[in-house]
Amino acid sequence: MTDRCNYRCTYCMPPGGVDWLPPSEILTYEEMLRLIAVFAGEGITSVRLTGGEPLVRKGIVAFVAKVKALGCIRDLSLTTNGSLLPAIATELKAAGLDRVNISLDTIDPDRFTRITTCGSLEETLRGVESAFRAGLSPVKLNVVLTEFLAESDLAYFLDMAVRFPVAIRFIEYMPIGGSGLVRGMNPAAVKEKLAAMAGSGLEPAESKGSGPARYYRLPGASGVWGFITPLSEHFCGSCNRMRLTADGRLKPCLLSDREIDIKTPLRAGADDARLAELFRAAVRAKPERHSLCRASGHPGFQRCMPQIGG
Ligand code: 5AD
Ligand code: SF4
Repeated sequence: MTDRCNYRCTYCMPPGGVDWLPPSEILTYEEMLRLIAVFAGEGITSVRLTGGEPLVRKGIVAFVAKVKALGCIRDLSLTTNGSLLPAIATELKAAGLDRVNISLDTIDPDRFTRITTCGSLEETLRGVESAFRAGLSPVKLNVVLTEFLAESDLAYFLDMAVRFPVAIRFIEYMPIGGSGLVRGMNPAAVKEKLAAMAGSGLEPAESKGSGPARYYRLPGASGVWGFITPLSEHFCGSCNRMRLTADGRLKPCLLSDREIDIKTPLRAGADDARLAELFRAAVRAKPERHSLCRASGHPGFQRCMPQIGG
């Protein structure tokens, strides 16, 4: 949707910031709609809008309505930092948005500001609340596992999913793009800690859909906890994602620089059949697995997270 963001999370944005794409390089809403319609013809039924922060782009509510009006996208979701959600959560839901993923890495205001640099915990929590109120269900929270996550956060996230129908997803830190100064936490150790805090009874939950998270539940709890472990236990074999960057490249794999430019042919007047062919070529280019491992440190990928879309 955009490479811009009103937060600057240390694990996401490089320390010197990002040179924003010039507006002419960014796909227009009309271009995105055309591509979504073509990809739907190739079997795509789920679309997740990401950024940067998708809600900083003007006209998003109308765009959501147009995507839904195509009639072929069953699951339309959005990944957001939540800060701009309260003002438009109800409108987004009315326009046809099905659900949201909200980034919330800690519930300590100071640590939250240290992670996001210019974010406010209060704003993001208001965003979470507005998602519940608007019925954007299920609400999923993304918690990147960094040194900033404290035991008190884990206790909060444990309690939260006991009480509310929320999916809390702990995401293994990927050493790409961000400041490179953040230390990640081992997902297996966090899972063990969570299980110990839960007492006995944390058990694997059946996961709906084909997402990358492995979920766990507790008898009687309203929500679930999930782990997304791209490095320590990669799920490349079952990955069915295709990313379209804000500047119109198809990315077969998040953790590879391989890209297929679809904007140039689109703007040069390619017909739907040609665009579909490019999409199929991108699907064929999906690697068997990525080659990033924790030991390899901070590789020099060409793009950082806000330019890819998380
Ligand atoms: N490692 C893991 N997750 C990341 N995200 C952004 N950067 C990283 C990283 N380096 C996550 C954010 C957001 C989603 C879009 O991607 O938490 O929820
Ligand atoms: Fe913005 Fe999300 Fe990146 Fe944080 S993780 S800087 S909120 S795009």
